[in-house]
Amino acid sequence: EAAQKGGYPHFMLKEIHEQPEVFRKTIRPRLNNGLPDFSQESIPDDIFRECTHIQVIACGTAMYAGMVGRAIMEKELRIPVTVSIASEFRYDTPLMDQHTLVIVVSQSGETIDTLAALRLAKECGCKVLSIVNVKGSSIARESDYVLYTHAGPEIAVASTKAYMVQLAVLYLITARMALVRKKDSEEAVRAFITSLEKAPDMIEQIMALDETIRKQAEKLAFAHDAFYIGRGMDYAFSLEGALKLKEISYIHAEAYAAGELKHGTIALIEPGVPVIALATQDKIFAKTISNIREVKARDAYVILITKEGADVSDDVYDIHLEIPIEDDRFTVFPCAVILQLLAYYTAYAKGYDMDKPRNLAKSVTVE
Ligand code: G6P
Repeated sequence: EAAQKGGYPHFMLKEIHEQPEVFRKTIRPRLNNGLPDFSQESIPDDIFRECTHIQVIACGTAMYAGMVGRAIMEKELRIPVTVSIASEFRYDTPLMDQHTLVIVVSQSGETIDTLAALRLAKECGCKVLSIVNVKGSSIARESDYVLYTHAGPEIAVASTKAYMVQLAVLYLITARMALVRKKDSEEAVRAFITSLEKAPDMIEQIMALDETIRKQAEKLAFAHDAFYIGRGMDYAFSLEGALKLKEISYIHAEAYAAGELKHGTIALIEPGVPVIALATQDKIFAKTISNIREVKARDAYVILITKEGADVSDDVYDIHLEIPIEDDRFTVFPCAVILQLLAYYTAYAKGYDMDKPRNLAKSVTVE
């Protein structure tokens, strides 16, 4: 097992570090002359051209990847996207038909709720495109079309690299759809892809914050509760950040849309409570900072994540982590790594085996 860990103390840390490589492996074969191209996997453009609605279905981390997917798709494509939890969806009476493109996301391809939801979608007459990591898995076999993620085997129960490449594929689909639906010029799509291709380098750069994050995690290890706040896309990333922390450190962690704090959660903020605040979106930056001020005024311990050079005064945070990026649409990639490392080092400080957290399974094949 030590050999398999490749010198890392845990699979989870190894898998976090593999992200730049698996990201490149996942996107490169799908680029042709700087544009997204799924002709190798025989995915017809008609499914992208003709749909009027996108329905994403998944569980856990894969569902949170879907939430980021929704944010980027609605922004770029101006098409309604719904994200559903598979265990809910399978017992719903879904509102969809042959004009709905269903995107199923699953690392293992064996999650029973996701598989049941896929079958229901097919009964409704929808075409199903799945984003799956495990070749030949049930979900891959039963889907009309598959875009495999190339994360390689993910051993740690808490998903890291699989999430990263699910995002990469959702971004590629967005770009392909923008092209096919003529939402954007070829030049704009090319620029989008150029930014996407920079993500692995960004992830590598962010690893340099390792020591700073580890120190913060040592403090977080003493917390009973932690709050993750953000708005817009930042809210979608914070959901996954909070999930990572609860899964492996057993700290109660909740993600809240920062503007919603005042409707309840602010009551839980007391001196010293850690708040991981994401403010990477220009459009709502000032609003998010004013939400952060509200928790800071109640003496929360604020770990703030912004883009490099963001204009913030030092009285709104305790520690400020900056990500080297300009384009708001791509901030999820470095943010995900920060949140993964924060969860990893917190579990490490608590002495837990984060590769095999209690009560959780890598793949849930029973209902
Ligand atoms: C389990 C795993 C999670 C995963 C979820 C969905 O809960 O512990 O890490 O996100 O299942 O799994 P899937 O294989 O469908 O992505």
